Amino acid sequence: MRLLKLVATVASGLALTACVVTIPAGCHFRSALTPQQAEGKRLYDTGCAHCHEENDLHLKKVPPNLHGIFSHKTLPDGAPATDAEVERILLAGKGLMPSFAYQMTKEQMDALLAYLHTY
Ligand code: HEC
Repeated sequence: MRLLKLVATVASGLALTACVVTIPAGCHFRSALTPQQAEGKRLYDTGCAHCHEENDLHLKKVPPNLHGIFSHKTLPDGAPATDAEVERILLAGKGLMPSFAYQMTKEQMDALLAYLHTY
């Protein structure tokens, strides 16, 4: 048993070293979320994904893909890709998307934005 443990420890140590040396291909350390981002992910998964990933309501205007929205200069509609703009859209609603003004606290909004930056 002890030997097995030792082998496991050495193996995970090696995997770690391999990851550090060959960054970042195949390494998922960067995807570890902070508690705030994890809360944002939970909010996204429950409140946004059903439309933005699955379009489960079969909306005529297909909700845009939000992957990497902050890695581009502009949002799909051309507005600047900033926290302030996304927050404005979420508070006001847009087209077929409802407003989230009464469903989200400021902390939840911040968590969601933090997650979308990793997403
Ligand atoms: C009921 C379905 C629905 C839900 C739920 C929903 N969205 Fe949307 N969303 C849409 C649709 C449809 C659009 C496109 C609106 C338009 O351009 O007319 C949109 C647009 C957006 C845009 C603007 C993209 C652009 O450039 O115009 C952002 C950002 C966005 N949604 C984020 C979110 C987030 C974050 C959530 C979760 C809190 C969410 N949405 C929940 C349907 C939805």
